Amino acid sequence: MLVNMRELLADAQKGNYAVGSFSVANMEMVLGVLQAAKELNAPVILQIAEVRLKQSPLELIGPLMVAAAKNADTPVAVHFDHGKTVEKITQALEIGFTSVMFDGSHLPLEENMETTKRVIEIAKKYGASVEAEIGCVGGSEDGSEDIAINCTKPEDAVRFESETGVDALAIAIGNAHGNYKSTPKLRFDILQEVDERTSVPLVLHGGTGITPDDFVKCSHNGIKKINIATATFDTVENTVRRCYNENNINGYYDLQGAEVQGAYENAKKHILIFGTDGKA
Ligand code: 13P
Repeated sequence: MLVNMRELLADAQKGNYAVGSFSVANMEMVLGVLQAAKELNAPVILQIAEVRLKQSPLELIGPLMVAAAKNADTPVAVHFDHGKTVEKITQALEIGFTSVMFDGSHLPLEENMETTKRVIEIAKKYGASVEAEIGCVGGSEDGSEDIAINCTKPEDAVRFESETGVDALAIAIGNAHGNYKSTPKLRFDILQEVDERTSVPLVLHGGTGITPDDFVKCSHNGIKKINIATATFDTVENTVRRCYNENNINGYYDLQGAEVQGAYENAKKHILIFGTDGKA
């Protein structure tokens, strides 16, 4: 069933786990993620980032994501990831997304807070939740920008929460989008300080390549939403390649099945690590 992200993250706070937010680019990925959620009786979030709309237009993939969430057996929030423009964020809300992110992490804190507050006002009309980001997570969602990591200052998180009342806050603790060149060393000292000084659910971007132990440690220290994008795309691609190599693809619908299988395996693996199984 389609739900607001606020409810999912409030439950995750009570249950001390994190909800996986899986980026999708097509129907096959949506089906794979929801198959894993159903099998494991897990809540999940389906998301797409504004930079990906070149390949998957919002007016097409958006209604598909919302319809799939409505038909799902477990609670599913539909989230607009890394919203850059109020125009596209509003379009996502019109389509029925139950959560939107405004990413003003590149802006001075004051400007980031101002636009976040504007987005919160708009989202309120739709009953949707809002995520923001402070500090800079490395790279960019589609790898087109080489943004340096700039860890979040805990005092900024305290101010941001109290002045905006945002529903979820993405922080930078040494994490980056895309495949890491070496295993990241997350700044748990920063995470713990932000967690102690705020009550807002925290979000970890750049989930691909973070170790299972670090995921668990994050989920026990305030991280309630974990974004996974590259791992989904890579697993789908690799599963298709493996199926071709094993001569298991004979015709288009085998190819489609392999894509669903890849998205399913990736979502299942992460749901189990995050401890979201059985939480629907
Ligand atoms: P990865 O591509 O590293 O999994 O990051 C996903 C993300 O944070 C999307 O917002």
